[in-house]
Amino acid sequence: MGNVHVLDHPLIQHKLTFIRDVSTGTKEFRELVDEVSTLMAFEITRNLQLQEVTVETPVGPAKSYTLAGKKLGVVPILRAGLGMTDGIIKLIPAAKVGHVGLYRDPETLQPVEYYVKLPSDVEEREFIVIDPMLATGGSAIEALNSLKKRGAQNLKLMCLIAAPEGVALVQEAHPDVDIYLASMDEKLNDKGYIVPGLGDAGDRLFGTK
Ligand code: PRP
Ligand code: URA
Repeated sequence: MGNVHVLDHPLIQHKLTFIRDVSTGTKEFRELVDEVSTLMAFEITRNLQLQEVTVETPVGPAKSYTLAGKKLGVVPILRAGLGMTDGIIKLIPAAKVGHVGLYRDPETLQPVEYYVKLPSDVEEREFIVIDPMLATGGSAIEALNSLKKRGAQNLKLMCLIAAPEGVALVQEAHPDVDIYLASMDEKLNDKGYIVPGLGDAGDRLFGTK
């Protein structure tokens, strides 16, 4: 079973409060999602492998370290995942970015896939799949299916807010995938929205409604 990590860094929790706040407008919402994504990526990448190298400083040789191991990929689930992408790749600029386009049918709440584009060396990369919201879990499960079908083997899922029901379904469908959250909220309401959540992440990021 994949582990669920709630990232309780004070800066993440502080910024999440303002992301949730209904009075936070689009500009500030977007900036805060970007900042929290950077902070979460910092936590998630703490176990990346290093290799020892020697670098020449102005004073002489220094034994130092660079990243080794698998190359990274970031996969936003469109559209709201786009709001988290820059925050991560500013920290890991060598990461390639794939996209999985899914929307949740408002009646059935089932995910509908409309676009997939991944880096060509998908088998060799370790991917972080990103979406602010993990509600029923349908979109995350479908995005992970889509990546695995195309050869991805090493996957992590990073979301700002999740509902316990959705997390349980993702764990069941993808026991190999660790899940990283800023908050595990209380429940889903009868429209499949996370309570208390933050509302509709895509609409708040892009100013649609
Ligand atoms: C939202 C959100 C997730 C999905 C979560 O996207 O960004 O992708 O819902 O819900 P689930 O866990 O029940 O599948 P939405 O379908 O609203 O599309 P959008 O990002 O294009 O607005
Ligand atoms: N999608 C959102 O954007 N918010 C929710 O609470 C659930 C799904």
